[in-house]
Amino acid sequence: MIKIAPSILSADFINLGRDIDSIAAADEIHFDVMDGLFVPNLSFGLPVLKAVRGYTDMVIDVHLMIERPIRYVENFCRAGADLVAVHVEADTPEAISQAIDIIRARGKKAGVAIKPGTPASALEPFIDRLGEVICMTVEPGFGGQSLRMDVLKKVAEVRKMVESRGLNCDISVDGGVNRATAPLCVEAGANVLVNGTGIFSAENRERNIEELRGSLQPYFDVR
Ligand code: DX5
Ligand code: ZN
Repeated sequence: MIKIAPSILSADFINLGRDIDSIAAADEIHFDVMDGLFVPNLSFGLPVLKAVRGYTDMVIDVHLMIERPIRYVENFCRAGADLVAVHVEADTPEAISQAIDIIRARGKKAGVAIKPGTPASALEPFIDRLGEVICMTVEPGFGGQSLRMDVLKKVAEVRKMVESRGLNCDISVDGGVNRATAPLCVEAGANVLVNGTGIFSAENRERNIEELRGSLQPYFDVR
């Protein structure tokens, strides 16, 4: 199934509850956490996640763009994440592996995110334990960038890794996904489409989400 995951990085924080209501037609909430070190930007963290968790029953997918995520994964699980994804570039493979085990021990799904320049092979040590791989289709840090087409080849490689192992692992594309690029991402093998600025800048979000799904209809059986 193709899932649409609005990134609330682009929401109106004064009206976050209203903005969450406006994306009820989507499949999950994408929650971007930035520490100003791993990426040159700061966003939000645990108190906001707790508030969002208390407000909605939607699936919350936490994308940690922070150094040494092992320090915080347990807290994000406790604060209400359904899935916590860490960046493979943010620590040693051993520490990333431990972080994945901590997330799973708390009964949550673990994800690993990779930057555009990181090869699919970096996922090898972890892939069997993951509920999601996030292929960054922009350099992480900011919404509103253009999708890097060169990453689609890697999306196809990740899809192959997942299929050849018979895994039940979502493949997300994150950054620059819109009606024009979404079909290419799905064709390459992605099944979760993260979208921030596109959905939240639309006046009618529900229609925007349905149009994004609709852009895939000619290619696939979407639902
Ligand atoms: C970028 C974030 C993305 C981003 C997606 O570092 O991880 O989730 O906000 O937003 P758009 O759709 O604006 O590219
Ligand atoms: Zn993200």
